[in-house]
Amino acid sequence: MDNLLLYLLVISMAVKAQICPKRCICQILSPNLATLCAKKGLLFVPPNIDRHTVELRLGDNFVTSIKRKDFANMTRLVDLTLSRNTISFITPHAFTDLENLRALHLNSNRLTRISNDTFSGMSKLHHLILNNNQLTDIYIGAFNDLLALEELDLSYNNLETIPWEAIQRMTSLHTLSLDHNMIDYIPEGTFSLLQKLNRLDVTSNKLQKLPPDPLFQRAQVLATSGIMSSTSFALSFGGNPLHCNCELLWLRRLSREDDLETCATPAHLTGRYFWSVPEEEFLCEPPLITRYTQELSVLEGQRVTLRCKARGDPEPAIHWISPDGKLVSNSSRVLVYNNGTLDILISTVKDTGAFTCISSNPAGEAHQTVDLLIIKLPHFTNSTNTMQEPDPGSSDISTSTKFGANTTNHTGDTRASHDKRVAVAEVTSSSALIKFNFQRNIPGIRMFQIQYNGTYDDSLVYR
Ligand SMILES: *[C@@H]1O[C@H](CO)[C@@H](O)[C@H](O)[C@H]1NC(C)=O
Ligand SMILES: *[C@@H]1O[C@H](CO)[C@@H](O)[C@H](O)[C@H]1NC(C)=O
Ligand SMILES: *[C@@H]1O[C@H](CO)[C@@H](O)[C@H](O)[C@H]1NC(C)=O
Ligand SMILES: *[C@@H]1O[C@H](CO)[C@@H](O)[C@H](O)[C@H]1NC(C)=O
Ligand SMILES: *[C@@H]1O[C@H](CO)[C@@H](O)[C@H](O)[C@H]1NC(C)=O
Ligand SMILES: *[C@@H]1O[C@H](CO)[C@@H](O)[C@H](O)[C@H]1NC(C)=O
Ligand SMILES: *[C@@H]1O[C@H](CO)[C@@H](O)[C@H](O)[C@H]1NC(C)=O
Ligand SMILES: *[C@@H]1O[C@H](CO)[C@@H](O)[C@H](O)[C@H]1NC(C)=O
Repeated sequence: MDNLLLYLLVISMAVKAQICPKRCICQILSPNLATLCAKKGLLFVPPNIDRHTVELRLGDNFVTSIKRKDFANMTRLVDLTLSRNTISFITPHAFTDLENLRALHLNSNRLTRISNDTFSGMSKLHHLILNNNQLTDIYIGAFNDLLALEELDLSYNNLETIPWEAIQRMTSLHTLSLDHNMIDYIPEGTFSLLQKLNRLDVTSNKLQKLPPDPLFQRAQVLATSGIMSSTSFALSFGGNPLHCNCELLWLRRLSREDDLETCATPAHLTGRYFWSVPEEEFLCEPPLITRYTQELSVLEGQRVTLRCKARGDPEPAIHWISPDGKLVSNSSRVLVYNNGTLDILISTVKDTGAFTCISSNPAGEAHQTVDLLIIKLPHFTNSTNTMQEPDPGSSDISTSTKFGANTTNHTGDTRASHDKRVAVAEVTSSSALIKFNFQRNIPGIRMFQIQYNGTYDDSLVYR
């Protein structure tokens, strides 16, 4: 009898130890297994969790990091709760084996970033709850595989932006919570494919505007009553510094109950209730070019900076048209900046002509031309060859002080005189020593210009 009791005890202990970690409760709700370890003072994920568990609750513990082995082989897991721990680090691919996971609760932890391989491969995940962390950085590819997501909660973090392109592809999404972050921009078209979206919360961010989207036509901005029909769409956007100009007119025109959103700008609407400002006051201002470069003459090869500044509401975009009528874009020689500055790093004679600055916004357009004259310099060919010649005295480097004057004869002059005023020595593939051997000062010399062919991009370079 004693033997039998002992035997039973051993059996039951063995079974218990095998399937249920210490302090946890394991419920077999045939055929499913739930492992319940909430509020057990755990410092890490117990290693001996039954790999067949379907539900795993680890909330309200003190877990600080998630390791690769923690959830290895848990292919049956459907619901994982890690809420209210102190998790600050998730090892890459820690969730990789969770191929059936539907819900992942990671809210109220200390995560600061989500990298590309944190949620990679989780194509069946429906609910991803990440609110109340300290997220500042979600990598651009971090949500690429989460195509089945129905609910995404990123509220109460420090996010300035999120991977909008991945959001755009989450066509099953019905709830998107982005409130209480620092988001200042939502790209147009983000929601256009999200036919199932019925709740979007962007409350308390730094948005000055929302992108118009057909989806919002169903909007019935979440009012205090909060009751919605299945086809309606709840949009909350209070607590943002709304810029109430013509770009927000579409939003103002949505029929809805009053709420407490206010305008932050323009100055004359500051503090006014969004829904009480009449439509006629949502105004834009066409661009006005306020400052621009007057006509400019520059030596060939020099850097040229053309500036153009405009004001308007919304902030006008500035584009440049080159003398031959083409829109100027970035190249190895030319940079155009958003602030209206056009930088020609190495000018050529072909840049001579009228550049046009075009400033535009939804309210209109303004033009201004800037005349640019590039003064031609004497051009010498095959200077590289000359430098490789044994006698550096035959260098064709000009010592002329008059640029753009009678150019055709300088080569002849220098060649003829053979006075070795300029000598090139120590030539290597990337450097050369250039010496100016003047017996006496030549009056009027203010600068030397060195012209050489760079093999890097095969263009003439001036210094
Ligand atoms: C997962 O399964 C593999 C192979 O079946 C095994 O080698 C490994 O030890 C398992 N890992 C864990 C943490 O159970
Ligand atoms: C993350 O993935 C995106 C594309 O999916 C890629 O462009 C980016 O460079 C990746 N970032 C890192 C740090 O690997
Ligand atoms: C051109 O390049 C500059 C510097 O890399 C960048 O700041 C600017 O935004 C670019 N312009 C365009 C139109 O891409
Ligand atoms: C425009 O931006 C460029 C690059 O950031 C800067 O070098 C330039 O000084 C700016 N120009 C003006 C007029 O602010
Ligand atoms: C360089 O110039 C010399 C004389 O001016 C000429 O004979 C030679 O063919 C030129 N070489 C090249 C590569 O142009
Ligand atoms: C040097 O550059 C000029 C102008 O681009 C070109 O005409 C000449 O053939 C080049 N010479 C060599 C040796 O590459
Ligand atoms: C250039 O030189 C030629 C003859 O050497 C002369 O006839 C002509 O006037 C000069 N041109 C200039 C712009 O000095
Ligand atoms: C260049 O100068 C030489 C002598 O210095 C002179 O003989 C020749 O006529 C000049 N050529 C031109 C085109 O001016």
